[in-house]
Amino acid sequence: MTHRKKIVVLTGAGVSVESGLSTFRGQGGLWEGHDPQEVASIEGWRRNRALVLQFYNERRAQLEHARPNAAHLAIAALEDRYDVTVVTQNVDNLHERAGSTRVLHLHGELTKVRPEDGIYDRTFSEEEVIDVGFGAVEPGDLAPNGSQLRPHIVFFGEAVPKIERAIDCVQAADLMLIVGTSLAVYPAAGLYRYARAGVPVYLIDPEEVALYDKRIVQIRDVATRGMARFTDMLREKGF
Ligand code: OAD
Repeated sequence: MTHRKKIVVLTGAGVSVESGLSTFRGQGGLWEGHDPQEVASIEGWRRNRALVLQFYNERRAQLEHARPNAAHLAIAALEDRYDVTVVTQNVDNLHERAGSTRVLHLHGELTKVRPEDGIYDRTFSEEEVIDVGFGAVEPGDLAPNGSQLRPHIVFFGEAVPKIERAIDCVQAADLMLIVGTSLAVYPAAGLYRYARAGVPVYLIDPEEVALYDKRIVQIRDVATRGMARFTDMLREKGF
């Protein structure tokens, strides 16, 4: 088998905009009408579990009716020619539904829940994670260990357990592509710094994103058109 070049694709909320899902920092800093600190932080969870559960129940119901767009499909199609890992900050499952086979969810997954308290001092094992699909979870719904079920989402104030694996993928990559993220939330925002010297880094976003690294080349466009341009460019360059 011939050696396939490795591409790592880092995605954010912008890749799912054309599927009808909103970004986080789009409308005056509100996420679907809520302050992210209220519905996506560990303090917010402790303050009002019912509100947080309801918020993610709504997001799950919305996701059921969303479809992958041409950008998700184009990212999946890169697997025809390259060895691709998608590292996504998104909690939706549109990359998987588009056909991407290797997807690392840095910030968790909307369709999954887990016990509020892991067995070992608030950590959790993958076996404790429960797939609820697009279904609702209510206060009083308990895990087998007797504790309240919570969204399998990395809240502000919590560690990002998969960051080490993401760093490994970026370090191994021959090309990095970033799509639809404001690069405002760490540690995800710093991942591109692990790309090896000489590895090209492209960014698709319609807005000007604050870039601290001169080697990042921006394709200033929405994700669907940007992906078409990116794919053409790879072909032209013979990458
Ligand atoms: P943001 O809302 O911060 O940024 C979304 C980016 O998408 C912006 O740069 C927009 O310009 C861009 N965008 C908008 N429409 C687009 C389109 N049609 N095509 C391509 N790009 C478009 O979202 P993220 O960077 O993903 O964490 O936010 C990172 C994290 O912050 C999220 O994962 C979330 C939040 O707190 C958690 O929930 C843990």
